[in-house]
Amino acid sequence: MLRNPENKYRPFAAPQLSGRKWPSRTVQQAPIWMSTDLRDGNQSLIEPMSIAQKLEFFDMLVQIGFKEIEVGFPSASQTDFDFVRTLIEEKRIPDDVTIEVLVQSREALIARTFEALQGVPRAIVHLYSALCPSFRKIVFNQPKEEVKALAVEGTRLIRQYADAQPETHWIYQYSPETFSMTELAFAREVCDAVAQTWRPTRQHKMILNLPATVEAAMPNVYADQIEWMDRNLGYRDSIVLSVHPHNDRGTAVAAAELALLAGADRIEGCLFGNGERTGNVDLVTLALNLYTQGIDPGLDFSEIDAVRRVVERCNQIPVHPRHPYAGDLVHTAFSGSHQDAIRKGFAQQQPGAFWEVPYLPIDPADIGRNYDAVIRVNSQSGKGGSTYLLERGMGFTPPRRVQIEFSHAVQAVTDESGEEMTGAAICALFAREYFDVAGPLQRASGKGLHWNSRDIPVPNVSAAAGASMPETQAHAISQALQPFAGQPVEITSYEMLHTANGQVAVFAGCRIGGQAPCFGVGIGSDEADAVLDALVSGINRAVASTLWPVAAQKAAA
Ligand code: KIV
Ligand code: ZN
Repeated sequence: MLRNPENKYRPFAAPQLSGRKWPSRTVQQAPIWMSTDLRDGNQSLIEPMSIAQKLEFFDMLVQIGFKEIEVGFPSASQTDFDFVRTLIEEKRIPDDVTIEVLVQSREALIARTFEALQGVPRAIVHLYSALCPSFRKIVFNQPKEEVKALAVEGTRLIRQYADAQPETHWIYQYSPETFSMTELAFAREVCDAVAQTWRPTRQHKMILNLPATVEAAMPNVYADQIEWMDRNLGYRDSIVLSVHPHNDRGTAVAAAELALLAGADRIEGCLFGNGERTGNVDLVTLALNLYTQGIDPGLDFSEIDAVRRVVERCNQIPVHPRHPYAGDLVHTAFSGSHQDAIRKGFAQQQPGAFWEVPYLPIDPADIGRNYDAVIRVNSQSGKGGSTYLLERGMGFTPPRRVQIEFSHAVQAVTDESGEEMTGAAICALFAREYFDVAGPLQRASGKGLHWNSRDIPVPNVSAAAGASMPETQAHAISQALQPFAGQPVEITSYEMLHTANGQVAVFAGCRIGGQAPCFGVGIGSDEADAVLDALVSGINRAVASTLWPVAAQKAAA
């Protein structure tokens, strides 16, 4: 094992940029988006997409709202060639969408590219060539002049082939591959020479795409590089300045956002960050980040799960459950304090007001998610979680003390199983705990009560169905029960509320023999029935929990 691996690496030589402007700017509008899922993303797949998969992906990108889509490298792959032909011959490219294809600076490849594009109304032809020192030394073994000449020659050839197919509206794109690892002055020199050869105008701009082919430095360094190019490029007003960050250091999203501040007009990337090695920058995250700053990204992710399914199927790579915005778990809180805060946030969120629900940076509904997954209960959850799921499943919010009591029952189950409890399981547990509780107290016919089948002279409980049970009434019920229970009985609390489906829910605190009170719950359309059910539930639970003393049982028998 290496003892000091850090000694193998050099620190990145950051550019010198004085008076940088990007740190004090804010993003005001969405960039031009370019999806390279079907090219860069596809190149990185274990099994590249079939034509059918590419078509499905392409149609989805169009639906999302992409206006520029890199569809392949037709001179390098027969599938890509056939795919481009299919798009053109089957007229599958909407009028407002421009396809883009990649090519290297070799005449045979350029000729084949133009063959693939025959008959397309509009297209971006994208030439790339690597410039950085390590490529010049290791891969090409060429001096700067030759590396520059290759880019210029490719541009000249593309101009020539484009002029020969004037029925198409051609847009030219050049990428100095490995830009972020190239000396800035040399990158500018090559880009200026390329632009000089193409001769873009303000009306007919070319795209200059500056890739972090391998992300090698912090995002602020990339921003400095972009701002330097923005300031120093020739033909700047005839150029669409594009960025193409990869994610080797895990900071591609930050790099793209800072690059926008630094002057970039356009971003290339892939959905959910697919792409070579650690991926291209994730366009979903970038777009939804804008959304949460009050900026319309111009891309529609209102059905994020449908988009995710297509991407997962075509790429055959799952989206991580913690992936920003789209992962299965990203709107879910398991911990009690988070659940409490979210529940309060939901309760206070007013329609039309700014979104302000704690722990949820985005309203799940905006990306087509419902609230089912927001609060999930396991052994780390408190009363907030089970209460939220009860509210959703049963249509009422139990009083706070009942919430606390019930959360202990939930905790016992989740501790025992070590597993999550679904909303349905929580509601079933509530029913088991509080409804039809077996014990000595039972409902008799009409509004009567039995204690082990003996009639109890119960006061008229229908009068009790109000906001609170009058003390005299509570006292009368306690008195009526006491001889049967064989020890003091107390109704310690009483609350009634209406459920979401118009029923009455009664919660009664019942204490036997001076023990801690237990709650009983009765729900029904008739108030008096609900009160009696709550008493039966509460007393029987109290009897069970106090381990009703044997002596008292005998006395009551
Ligand atoms: O990462 C890269 O440099 C590329 C170029 C071809 C644009 O994908
Ligand atoms: Zn790339």
